[in-house]
Amino acid sequence: MRSSSSYILFISLIILHYVSCQLQPSQLTTMNNLHKLLQTNTNNSKWNSSQDLSNPCSWTGVACTPNGSSIINLSLSSFSLSDVDSSWSSLVCQIETLRSLELSNNNLASIPPLLLSSCDDSLEVLNLNFSSNGLTGLLTSFLSGFRSLQVLDLSHNWFEGGIPERITEYRNISLLDLSYNRLNGSIPTGIDQLSNLQQLILSFNNLTGEIPPSISNITSLKQFAANYNRFTGQIPNDIGQLIGLEQLLLYANHLTGEIPNSITRITTLKCFSANQNGFTGVIPQGITRYLSNLDLSYNNLNGLIPSDLLSQLNLLTVDLSFNSLEGYIPVNASKSLFRLRLGSNWLRGEIPVWSSGNDTPSLAYLELGYNDLSGLIPPELRLYKNLSLWDLSHNNLTGSVPRELGDLNRLQGVQLDHNRLSGEIPSEIGGLEILVNLNMSWNLLSGSIPPSLSRLKMLTNLDLQVNNLSGQIPDSFGSMDKLLELQLGGNKLSGVIRSLPTKLKIALNLSSNSFTGPIPDSLNRLTSLEVLDLSNNRFSGGIPSFLTQMPSLTQILLSNNLLTGLVPRFNPNVIVSYGGNTNLSFPPSNQPAKTVSVGIVVASTAAVVVLMVVTIVAVIVSRKIHRVNDNEESHHSSQPEVVKSRLLTLNEIYRTNLDFTKVMKRASYASSVVLKTSLGTCLDWNNRYIIAFGVANGLAFLHGCPPGPIILLDLSSKGIMLKSLNEAQIGDIELSKVIDPSKST
Ligand SMILES: *[C@@H]1O[C@H](CO)[C@@H](O)[C@H](O)[C@H]1NC(C)=O
Ligand SMILES: *[C@@H]1O[C@H](CO)[C@@H](O)[C@H](O)[C@H]1NC(C)=O
Ligand SMILES: *[C@@H]1O[C@H](CO)[C@@H](O)[C@H](O)[C@H]1NC(C)=O
Ligand SMILES: *[C@@H]1O[C@H](CO)[C@@H](O)[C@H](O)[C@H]1NC(C)=O
Ligand SMILES: *[C@@H]1O[C@H](CO)[C@@H](O)[C@H](O)[C@H]1NC(C)=O
Ligand SMILES: *[C@@H]1O[C@H](CO)[C@@H](O)[C@H](O)[C@H]1NC(C)=O
Ligand SMILES: *[C@@H]1O[C@H](CO)[C@@H](O)[C@H](O)[C@H]1NC(C)=O
Ligand SMILES: *[C@@H]1O[C@H](CO)[C@@H](O)[C@H](O)[C@H]1NC(C)=O
Ligand SMILES: *[C@@H]1O[C@H](CO)[C@@H](O)[C@H](O)[C@H]1NC(C)=O
Ligand SMILES: *[C@@H]1O[C@H](CO)[C@@H](O)[C@H](O)[C@H]1NC(C)=O
Ligand SMILES: *[C@@H]1O[C@H](CO)[C@@H](O)[C@H](O)[C@H]1NC(C)=O
Ligand SMILES: *[C@@H]1O[C@H](CO)[C@@H](O)[C@H](O)[C@H]1NC(C)=O
Repeated sequence: MRSSSSYILFISLIILHYVSCQLQPSQLTTMNNLHKLLQTNTNNSKWNSSQDLSNPCSWTGVACTPNGSSIINLSLSSFSLSDVDSSWSSLVCQIETLRSLELSNNNLASIPPLLLSSCDDSLEVLNLNFSSNGLTGLLTSFLSGFRSLQVLDLSHNWFEGGIPERITEYRNISLLDLSYNRLNGSIPTGIDQLSNLQQLILSFNNLTGEIPPSISNITSLKQFAANYNRFTGQIPNDIGQLIGLEQLLLYANHLTGEIPNSITRITTLKCFSANQNGFTGVIPQGITRYLSNLDLSYNNLNGLIPSDLLSQLNLLTVDLSFNSLEGYIPVNASKSLFRLRLGSNWLRGEIPVWSSGNDTPSLAYLELGYNDLSGLIPPELRLYKNLSLWDLSHNNLTGSVPRELGDLNRLQGVQLDHNRLSGEIPSEIGGLEILVNLNMSWNLLSGSIPPSLSRLKMLTNLDLQVNNLSGQIPDSFGSMDKLLELQLGGNKLSGVIRSLPTKLKIALNLSSNSFTGPIPDSLNRLTSLEVLDLSNNRFSGGIPSFLTQMPSLTQILLSNNLLTGLVPRFNPNVIVSYGGNTNLSFPPSNQPAKTVSVGIVVASTAAVVVLMVVTIVAVIVSRKIHRVNDNEESHHSSQPEVVKSRLLTLNEIYRTNLDFTKVMKRASYASSVVLKTSLGTCLDWNNRYIIAFGVANGLAFLHGCPPGPIILLDLSSKGIMLKSLNEAQIGDIELSKVIDPSKST
């Protein structure tokens, strides 16, 4: 009994084995030849000698019919294929049952001629993927055969010229991806003949002309991505006919006119991004009725924000910043609203309290800066428990900073600067354990600096300048060992400075206060400090020689004090200002004048070169930051996405929409320039680029249709600049600020 059952088991195993290996003999031979060819030709780890040569259906990238008789899918993605030897193509052409052929991520500069001629006759391929090769030339030469195609991905290549009218003959196509090429000209007007088209992706090309009105007739369309081109004219009025459209990406073009009302009728639309265009007029009422993500930033929209815009049920993110919107902020906001940017408009009135019962928006990011808002900061803000980034800067807010701020323990960035806030800084702020950036500058705050601020262990930037603060700098500040920048200028601070945060780097600004006595010894330990501003105080006594030994210093401002004695000799690269100290004397120069001036010339030439490079970088980066976007489908998730880890690796940056190679060329150019002046030691341009791109990558999530809620600090900063030569930083945006609140808790 037992032996017979094991006999049966044995037989079935043999049968199973036989069944699973019954690939038709011709294809088995073909595959083994292909295996041999690719293994000697290329060094890929996917097919190697350890593979079961008798069963190609088990190889990586190979898929067969359920009974194993024929190969239907073949992926030679990342097989290091190049133009040098294209004999693989004749083998592929022999697999008559092939339906899907993936050749992405190779080094093909042209399509093997054989593939276009003999394959076309013998195969009925439905899915062709040539993404991420180096394909050049016109699309016309490519579009000669394969009329049965359903999926055609030619993205990330170097195709140029126009999109041929012939494309409209591919009647069965449902996905056409031509993004990231150098295509110009306009969209063929006959595009609506592609009546099965679901995804039309034309992003990142040089396409011009209008979006053809006939597009509204492709009712199968689910995704239309036209972002990053040079399209002009208006959005077709009948766009509302696309009753299945889920994603409409039009950002970064030259589109004008009004946002058509018919968009509000598309019940399936989840994501609409039309930022960075020249749209005018008012935002249609009901535009967010079905949307999750709306981005209309960087346009010329005016009028009021429709009162229902923020209150729709499915809404996750809204970005209307950088327009000319007027009137009040809507009084109702949806519970699901996660990120709201209304900065840089003409909004006025008070900050609304969006809370009725339990329906508080789950806001994590709230940017209302650069408007005309007035009134008090509502204490009800404590209800936004998840608030991480909060920007009310550059408004006309009055009253005091509410103590309730201390309840928002997920806050990482707070910007209240350039308002008319008064009263004391609430000591409760000291409880914000993960706060990174606190800016309350340019207000009317009074009283002393609460010592509790030194409990902000993650704080890197503290800006309290230009207020009416008095008293002394709390001794406990010496323990803030993440702090890189301390701006206290323009207050009424006085007293002895016993202890300072030792990791300060970007700047220590104590100017225009009422400090007296000798320059404090505690400065001695600030070995990373780059800019020290002690000007406009009443410091007295000599200039201590340890100041000349501070290794990172680039600028020191000592003017308008009561300093006396001999000025010590600073490194010629340090910019020193002494003016307005009447009793200073200078040492006689003991070096030949010529050497000194040569030194100065070299230093200033170097400085000019560095400045130029910095400018180039700033320009590139600022362009990039405005160009960056994200076109991925929005996946709803209430958790902020982890951005930080993505930012650090090159591979991840490759996956962004940035033209990384182009800028990397610039990077090596920049670094060679810097190295030539031999200042290169302190500047690592490649790293800075990587970080800049990381930041840009992070920014990508803030426009367009983010794949999920993303948190990034400090986006109000308009200018992009390198604040500190040693610190990887772009304006106020810095890698360390690209953060994930969910990780921090
Ligand atoms: C494959 O890799 C080996 C060692 O890594 C190298 O010597 C050989 O040239 C490579 N062959 C090809 C075709 O790249
Ligand atoms: C052969 O490929 C398999 C995966 O298909 C891999 O695990 C193995 O390490 C490879 N062997 C060699 C020698 O590269
Ligand atoms: C395997 O299945 C395909 C259809 O998927 C069929 O055409 C073919 O005849 C089958 N072959 C065998 C040996 O059963
Ligand atoms: C073959 O490829 C098509 C298109 O990519 C895919 O939809 C299908 O699932 C694949 N079939 C198998 C068996 O992997
Ligand atoms: C084409 O291949 C690339 C890289 O493997 C992949 O990311 C992309 O999704 C593929 N395109 C389609 C339409 O499947
Ligand atoms: C398009 O698909 C239909 C139905 O699947 C088929 O009959 C027709 O032959 C296909 N057209 C081409 C050009 O392959
Ligand atoms: C796009 O077209 C403009 C003007 O014709 C040209 O200057 C630019 O280099 C083109 N860009 C690309 C990526 O081809
Ligand atoms: C498209 O670019 C090609 C060069 O790649 C140029 O010759 C042609 O004039 C351009 N066409 C349009 C419509 O801009
Ligand atoms: C859309 O299709 C209808 C019916 O075929 C046609 O009358 C109309 O002109 C088309 N609209 C556009 C803008 O092409
Ligand atoms: C705001 O919501 C409340 C309560 O749901 C409602 O009564 C009121 O009409 C709404 N206001 C506006 C302007 O939509
Ligand atoms: C805060 O976020 C969590 C998920 O991270 C969510 O479950 C919760 O509802 C949010 N709370 C508020 C008040 O928005
Ligand atoms: C700020 O508000 C005051 C009244 O509270 C007003 O006089 C002043 O003009 C406003 N400033 C700006 C810049 O709007």
